[in-house]
Amino acid sequence: MSELDPNVHPDAKREVEILAAESELYAPAAEVVSNAYLPDYLALRQSALADITAFWDARATEMIDWYEPYAQVLDDSSKPFYKWFVGGKTNIAHNALDRHIKTWRKNKLALIWEAEDGEQRTFSYFRLWQEVNRFANVLKSMGVKKGDTVTIYMGRVPELSIAMLATAKIGAIHSVVYGGFSEQALASRIEDAQSKVLVTCDGAWLRGKTINLKDIADEAVRRSPVVQSVIVYQRTKQTVRMEQGRDYWWHELMALPIASSKCTSEVMDAEDPLFILYTSGTTGRPKGVLHTCGGYQVHIATTLQYVFDLKDDDRWWCAADQGWITGHSYIVYSPLILGATSFMYEGSPDFPYPNRWWSLVEKYGITILYTAPTAIRGLMRYGEAWANRHDLSSLRLLGTVGEPINPEAWRWYHRVIGKERCPIMDTWWQTETGGFMITPTPVVPLKPGSATLPFAGIDADVVREDGTPCDANEDGYLVIRQPWPGMARTIWGDPERYVQQYWSDFAKQGWYFTGDSARKDQDGYFWIIGRMDDVIKVSGYRLGTAEVESALVSHKDVAEAACIGVPDELRGNVIHAFCILNNGVNGSDSLADALKQHVRTEIGPIAVPAKINFVDSLPKTRSGKIMRRLLKAQVLGQPIGDTSTLAD
Ligand code: WT7
Repeated sequence: MSELDPNVHPDAKREVEILAAESELYAPAAEVVSNAYLPDYLALRQSALADITAFWDARATEMIDWYEPYAQVLDDSSKPFYKWFVGGKTNIAHNALDRHIKTWRKNKLALIWEAEDGEQRTFSYFRLWQEVNRFANVLKSMGVKKGDTVTIYMGRVPELSIAMLATAKIGAIHSVVYGGFSEQALASRIEDAQSKVLVTCDGAWLRGKTINLKDIADEAVRRSPVVQSVIVYQRTKQTVRMEQGRDYWWHELMALPIASSKCTSEVMDAEDPLFILYTSGTTGRPKGVLHTCGGYQVHIATTLQYVFDLKDDDRWWCAADQGWITGHSYIVYSPLILGATSFMYEGSPDFPYPNRWWSLVEKYGITILYTAPTAIRGLMRYGEAWANRHDLSSLRLLGTVGEPINPEAWRWYHRVIGKERCPIMDTWWQTETGGFMITPTPVVPLKPGSATLPFAGIDADVVREDGTPCDANEDGYLVIRQPWPGMARTIWGDPERYVQQYWSDFAKQGWYFTGDSARKDQDGYFWIIGRMDDVIKVSGYRLGTAEVESALVSHKDVAEAACIGVPDELRGNVIHAFCILNNGVNGSDSLADALKQHVRTEIGPIAVPAKINFVDSLPKTRSGKIMRRLLKAQVLGQPIGDTSTLAD
């Protein structure tokens, strides 16, 4: 945890905008309230907080099928290792697919997918169920058993969802690595999860070009040779090297008799692992956040239902990637649990033209669109004419996630896309929280740039370092005071780090520390300020300074490196790197370019620093910790604040 430094506000411009937006209130239209799934949500929210176990207990019965009922809602006997729905037996694939096959939903569209080149594929619940069963049988035939991990590294194709659901169906644990990551990021995640099976693609389409995922996968497997089998889904049909006895084509396996379309879902305990998802923390080592089978389902199904108000005739578009928690929770699992129709688009929002997204909304009659501030800002810069060429009247709700949305982008989204009719759900949450935590529902009056209020049953607050509550409008630490069902259960293979990372700053009170700073205004509305730790949000992607720094120092010319996040109009933040070079090496533009390329191949394009500065020394504390705060103040031209711990 770092200290709150009033001198270095992460984004002074946003600060001014927020002050104006605090008094700007958008009350929901009467018809939005009367049509809402939960018109009396605000009252329910009050009673839920008074007894969170009663609230989640009721949701667990309402939303989820259990093979065997749970005996206890919450077991807090080994804090902070909470257990939810103790003794309950379930399987997420059962709730997402099996149960719908026995109802009229069998023939409902589960998934509509459009490729970047315009190709279209659709899956009814029945077809998706069959495909998942077939791939589940393929995995079994490769020797995957309950409790084994399967690493999945693919582009944005339906088969990624199928691979996840199939893994969950047989009780194995998936670890999806975002398709934009590169060799070392993938290798270290495979290694940490000890996956014997890797599912990947030959390539992925991006902006009319192909990215050779299989080459990257090959290099990662060379670095982490635990992998014994690689299953390759053919997407781009580019030439790839297939290693005899290790690599198999997806379509060939799916054509074998073993790939039967019947497969019984494994009976899982509520607390059995469901998936690992790696995210950035304060050290370079990948941090595998673990989610489990029971509570996670309850949390994501409840939040999607209440916040996005899903109805049977909706067409839901969560425009994220399945490789992030947003995709896991709100593309793959919760829409299927609720029996909804989801839309997915493979490519880039402005390809081939800046109207691509808006044309998709019109073409598919999207009713709810959920995306990130960086995407909104990116499309906003092309001007509103691109959106105005399309009929967006099917939309009824909008959403945003990933970083604070600046009020200006919020207003544009509200006016140009939502035509001032569609409430915007600004959902604050994290990989670790599993699902939404601070968010409005359609009946909550909105303020542009505020995630509004903690969700029902979520006990969030803004406090001082000593745990006392902050006054209205005072910046403080965002904490969660009581457990919630979708919470991460541990860090894979490292329970101590889990305790250290999330539960040690407010250990005395037993609270979870989010890593974010925030403030509550006079109406109790939450305003997220940003990360307080060494995590940088670039275009909504979460990166650890340590990850980027260790990629930089793995280059032969770099002795030491420090990275900071600097506010950026489009991407929220960009990375600036400071490098000390090895003796005898001189900094140059070409070396800076080579270092950027190195970071690109090690971690991926999202981690590439916007700027690399060559320096002779870095500011450090006497104990040797780099004081990134000082570097940041210097770049932003702000006062450097307290330097009493500076060594030199
Ligand atoms: C961090 C978590 C949860 C899905 C995507 C991000 C920031 C997230 C918001 C929001 C302001 C937000 C926080 C948080 N964040 N949503 N609506 N308003 N900030 O998951 O990659 O684990 O990142 O994203 O800083 O701690 P993640």
